[in-house]
Amino acid sequence: MAIDYQERIPNNVDLAENRTLQRALEHWQPEFLSWWKEMGPSDFLEREVYLRTAVSVDAKGWASYGYVQMPDYRWGIFLNEQDANRTIGFGDELGKPAWQQVPGEHRSTLRRLIVTQGDTEPASVEQQRLLGHTAPSLYDLRNLFQVNVEEGRHLWAMVYLLHAYFGRDGREEAEQLLERHSGDRNKPRILGTFNEPISDWLSFFMFTYFTDRDGKFQLKSLAESGFDPLARTCQFMLTEEAHHMFVGDTGIARVIRRSLEVMKELGTDDPQKIRAHGAVDLPTVQRYINFWFSSSLDLFGSESSSNAAAYFATGIKGRPDETKYEDHLALNQSYTLERPDGQGGITNEDVPLRNAMNEVTRGAYVKDCEIGLTRWNRTIQKAGYELKLSLPSTRFRRNIGTWAGITTDPAGKLITAAEFEAKKDSWLPSESDRTHVKSLMKAVTEPGKMAGWVAPPDRGINNNPVEYEYVKLH
Ligand SMILES: [Fe+2]
Ligand SMILES: [Fe+2]
Repeated sequence: MAIDYQERIPNNVDLAENRTLQRALEHWQPEFLSWWKEMGPSDFLEREVYLRTAVSVDAKGWASYGYVQMPDYRWGIFLNEQDANRTIGFGDELGKPAWQQVPGEHRSTLRRLIVTQGDTEPASVEQQRLLGHTAPSLYDLRNLFQVNVEEGRHLWAMVYLLHAYFGRDGREEAEQLLERHSGDRNKPRILGTFNEPISDWLSFFMFTYFTDRDGKFQLKSLAESGFDPLARTCQFMLTEEAHHMFVGDTGIARVIRRSLEVMKELGTDDPQKIRAHGAVDLPTVQRYINFWFSSSLDLFGSESSSNAAAYFATGIKGRPDETKYEDHLALNQSYTLERPDGQGGITNEDVPLRNAMNEVTRGAYVKDCEIGLTRWNRTIQKAGYELKLSLPSTRFRRNIGTWAGITTDPAGKLITAAEFEAKKDSWLPSESDRTHVKSLMKAVTEPGKMAGWVAPPDRGINNNPVEYEYVKLH
């Protein structure tokens, strides 16, 4: 499964063997590059950035590191190795051979899922395009660009599937993936969250922690797909995706650490004093968590969904880590969902398990999110403070599903819209929070130096020191 870097499009799918497909993708390649130059990171295109590039799909030593100008990054097509005996791991088709071609009856569903996944990849690059100008350090600037080029490669992963398996309409969808833009009035990106600009680094860390993690769980579900090329491409994307969440996890941890340092230095936890000292107070961190966690929850879809049931039944989309379950049919079982009873209370409703697959995946996501919170809270506790950060209830501030439009407090208690309105600014980033965070966004460009609102990372990238010149700006 060596990757051929002699080719114009690096790949491990024997692209040279299929001239038609190769030509089609070589035609799309310059369009991708002009999208990158126009909609990708603003400026910095001529800067040397210390980036990793995939060179193999082996779990060990799959990447190489070196200075690259972003437009010269070798975006390519890398699928995990094929298992010729792979069978479908769940649903009504359980045990039948995995599909190497798209079954006609699933064509439009698979195309829609691939397009929806593919759309989020360039969307996030667009959302983050201005962040380079306010990076808190060269280390962070490099991480931003690493995430950006890999999201670009994830777009390639989906475009390859569209071109290789969906003929003409696949090629048209590939074009449109470059035509929709985040926040565009006429041609927005498909999912709401991906149309919000990410204009400060606290939001970037939250996005990579919470929203990229949604990506992880979507990819995990698709990595189980009976459509083998989709499964294999998602498996390799997950390898790259892990770093994006690392950026978020350690980024938030560093903001917290800096805040604690300032609290200690000043001998106070008064948010105003911490702000005046140029750091982010912990209650503000909590409000950003509330915002990004709740908006990422919406990406999993409705709690009860006949689409989700059909994806599972047909073998199109499994549960994350499907092999961990004993039973892969999920028949004759129910799942208890909570919903508002319309009279100010909450009631339970049993739905067939297959219909609850979105909720099953959301539940796994919530658990995964909690890991970081436990770690961050340990840091706070070690520093001698009582405050505990927490995830809000999954009912809080939802726009999709059972809880859409229902007002609750962060603990999930039902409240009136007026109560919500009155308390909103203590639960979600307020105008003043955003203004403060924005005021901290000033680029620090000297190697090893950090902005005053974020602690340095524990270590650098690829065994290099934190002071390494991760982006050559001069
Ligand atoms: Fe991605
Ligand atoms: Fe990502």
